[in-house]
Order: sequence, then structure tokens, then C-alpha cells
Amino acid sequence: MEHKNSVVYQIYVKSFYDSNGDGIGDLNGIRAKLPYLKSLGVDYIWVTPFFPSPMFDNGYDVADYCAVNPMFGTMADCEAMIAEADKLGIGFMFDMVFNHTSWDHEWFKKALTGDPEYMDYYIFRDGVDGKPPLDWTASFGTPAWEYVPNLDKWYLHLFDKSQPDLNWENPKVRDALKDVIRFWKGKGVKGFRFDVLNLVSKPEHLEQCGSGSGASYCKDGHRIHEFIREMVTDTGIENMVTVGEMASTTLENCIRYSNPESRELAMCFNFHHLKVDYKNGDKWALMPPDLAQLHGIFRQWQEEMSRRGGWNAVFWCNHDQPRIVSRFGDEGEYWKQSAKMLGTFIHFLRGTPYVYQGEELGMTNAHYTTIEQYNDVECINYYKILLERGLSEQDALEVLAQRSRDNSRTPMQWSAGRNAGFTDGSPWLEIPANYSFINVEAEEDDPDSILHYYRTLIKLRKEYPIIAEGEVRFLETGNERVFAYERSLDGQRLTVVCSFSGQNEAANVDLKPGTLLLCNGASDQMARLENGTLALRPYEAFAVLN
Ligand code: GLC
Ligand code: CA
Repeated sequence: MEHKNSVVYQIYVKSFYDSNGDGIGDLNGIRAKLPYLKSLGVDYIWVTPFFPSPMFDNGYDVADYCAVNPMFGTMADCEAMIAEADKLGIGFMFDMVFNHTSWDHEWFKKALTGDPEYMDYYIFRDGVDGKPPLDWTASFGTPAWEYVPNLDKWYLHLFDKSQPDLNWENPKVRDALKDVIRFWKGKGVKGFRFDVLNLVSKPEHLEQCGSGSGASYCKDGHRIHEFIREMVTDTGIENMVTVGEMASTTLENCIRYSNPESRELAMCFNFHHLKVDYKNGDKWALMPPDLAQLHGIFRQWQEEMSRRGGWNAVFWCNHDQPRIVSRFGDEGEYWKQSAKMLGTFIHFLRGTPYVYQGEELGMTNAHYTTIEQYNDVECINYYKILLERGLSEQDALEVLAQRSRDNSRTPMQWSAGRNAGFTDGSPWLEIPANYSFINVEAEEDDPDSILHYYRTLIKLRKEYPIIAEGEVRFLETGNERVFAYERSLDGQRLTVVCSFSGQNEAANVDLKPGTLLLCNGASDQMARLENGTLALRPYEAFAVLN
């Protein structure tokens, strides 16, 4: 399948490039930067939602699935963007937010008037003694049910209250969503990303669920495989590039979602590897990453998926995650080495790699120090919750500085010029000071830059089939800070070694002389090998082909 050999680039439209000086990235901005993406070598671009929206969740609250938010441009801009990418051989993947709509969507507006047909598009229930039907919390830290006085009913929202959940049990809802897919397919879109897709099938006996996180009762629900297959086969997107965002899913389900025999999706996102620095599973409690756990998760998922015909998206970064170099790497002395090491680790794994805008530059967290600098609903809610839990303002701000989604949403750093070359106006979100040296222009000029390294990573995938198609096996290195894995295809072997450590390390690696495909430092690994023990430099990474 073509998607195995592809690399996807994710654009957060609001922060990519502003073409008209209003401080907000837009579709013409994406079009203007297509040559840059072509030069990077990516095959697909996933663009985050740019549809009409009140923007309570920055566009993941969609008011109209088949139109363009004037803030981002017009339908003509969108068509021009698709056509231009097409000429360059780049396909667009649009972001389908089908678990919920915005409360501004016409379906929900009709539901609120008491129209029974549209009330059945959503999940309305009676309360119990003036309280919600269930004691559920939503993902952004609020209760998951909202009361509507004129209906005397409550509706479910697993995210913000402005994002009411759709009722997928209603076939009219499923059909209406299929029409959305057909609409964008008709515009020449080449693939789709489905937002929190594994939450759409709600429990059969909703009223009987216990209390706690609403999403935990809805994930991988009893009709989920049926719903996905129906949506995909009815719209004829089986052979397109599709990826489902799967919240807290299982390996078992991901194999089924992505195994071609099930006729569901091309691949899945899951997030277990991005929770290894959550203290007691709490995103808002800080802890250094547990590298042994990280290693275990990758080993298990990679090997099982490989053995049983599943396929994953492989990634570190997106618009919901803090920047990886700030998180598992080093922003200081080893900024370049660690960013390159993290890229190496992902790009040689089995799966389709995703690059999130600015990752290819080694962009860092935002380093905001006041609550006013933040924009995202989730972190603003949690700031209040952390203060209620008794944290000082300073400690709460430290948590946000490491965990807020705004860390990845700062504008793309194009140059050392005004506003990092992102806009002529005033940017909607503050730009980190390090744009003076972390930017596209500076990295184009530096042959040793992270940007050039990512170009090489992407190019190698096209040159060596073993990267896209090989089996994968994790190796024991005897050092939990040094990860190594082996890919194999038709008697060929590719060994990848990555040190997640800022110190010199020693690790057991069965290394044989071969072709060094790339490395992020000196290429004298063989000389540093003594009786099967390799001396590694901080954040060293390399790949050898035998
Ligand atoms: C997904 C999106 C996130 C959004 C949420 C609700 O997780 O990636 O940005 O807030 O779904 O739509
Ligand atoms: Ca703009």
C-alpha cells in the first residue's frame, strides 16, 4: 500500500503562515508554502479543521462541515490550494470531527428548539433529581452533561460544552457524515484524519454506566468496528489514506482498525507512548519520562502490529502535545543532537511517520510565564483546577509550561525577521524568543541543521524499501536509556540505535560493519565498539544497513 511508503506533514492552519496580515494563518498561507513542503519531500498534508466554527476549541467545534471559515479563506482558496498541491504531487488529508459538532451547527440549533428529529442527532437524557443522568467528567476538566432549561434535558459532551456529542446510533447521522466525506472527496482530497473516532459508539446501556471520565466508557464501543467499516465502504475511501485518532485504545483494537482484512482504516494514532511522563497517569502532574516504560510500549506495539498485520501512524508531535525536543530531548547544549535522535527513532520504525509543523526545525515549548499568554480552553480550565487542588500560581504555571497544548500551537518560525516571518500583523499567539535561531531560513543555510536531517530521513524511506516494508524487532541493549531495533527484509538488516540520554552511555549492540545510512554525529561507531559494547555520545543516533 502506498501509505506505507509515505510521510505525512501536519499543518495547524491557524499557526502555519498568515497571507493577509491579520495575525492568523490561512489557506492561502498554506498554498504559498507548498514549495517548502515539496522540498521537504512529504507526500501528504493533514490540515487541522478550517471549517466555520465559533473556535471554542480552535476549530474542533465545527458549525458547518462543508464550508470554509472566513477567518481562513474561501472555498475558492481551498480549491486552489488542493489544485496546486496536486501539481506538486502532494495530497491533502482533511480533518473530520465526527464525534461531535459545535453547538452552532444547524442540527444542534434545531435540536435546542425541541425538534425531535434533530434531538435524535445528539444524546439528550433526563436528569436525576435535578442532577445530570451520570456523574461523568469531560476531557477538558468540566462535567460531561449540560442542562438545557427549555427542554428540561441534559446533553452529553465528552469535550467542551460547546461540542455536543453526535448520536451515531441514528442512521441519519451516519448518512449525513458520509455526505461530508463525499463532498470533500469530490473536491479532490486524497485522505482523511478522523478526530477521536474510537469514541463515537456509545455504551449500549448508557444509563447503567458508573461515574468518572466519560471517554473511558465510550472508547472502542460495541459498534465501533461496524460503524467505521460502514462509513469507509459506503463512501469508497477504502484505498485512500485514512487515519483514526484512537483515544486510550488497545493494541487488539488497533490491529483490527488497520488490518486491510477488516476494511476499516489505513492506520491509527494512539498515545500510550506520550503518557510515560504523566505522574500516576495524570497529565497535569509532572514526572520525568519513564524510559523503561517507553521502550516497553514501543516494543510491544511495533512487534505485535508487525506480526498481526496492523499498521500505525508513528509520531511524537501534534497540535495536542508539547514539543518533543523540550520533553524527551534537550533544549540546551544537545538541542540539535537530541532533535535529530528523536527524528531518527520515529522515521525508521514500522509505520507511517508524521511530522508536525516546526518539528523539522526542532521547535521548542513556548515558555510562557503568565496565564494571560495562553489561549487553549483545556489548559485554562486546568489552571483553575490546579489552583483549587492547592498548587501555587507559580507551580500551576510550571505545569502548564510543560503540558499545555499551546506549546505546539505557537506560530511556525520561518525566519529571524519580524514575528518570525509568520505574519505582518500581530500573531494570535505569542512566538518563543528562540525564533532568532530556530527558523527555516537559518536552517536552510546550515548544512548540519535539523531541517536538512529531516529531509534526509524522508528521502531514505523512498530509497530503501526495508524502511517501509521490513519486519521489526527490538533489541536488548542492557541500558534502558539506549533503544535499538532491527528491521529486516529479504535477507537485509537495518540496525537503528538511539540514545535517549544526555550523558555518555555504554550499550550492548550486535553491530556488524555495513553501510551507515545516517548518524547525528561522528561516523566512527565501529571504532567505539569493544567486545560488543558500544560507547555512545549524548543523544547519539545512527542506522546501519547490512
Ligand atoms: C482531538 C483533537 C483535539 C480536540 C479534540 C476534540 O483530540 O486533536 O485538538 O480538542 O479531539 O475535538
Ligand atoms: Ca490570515
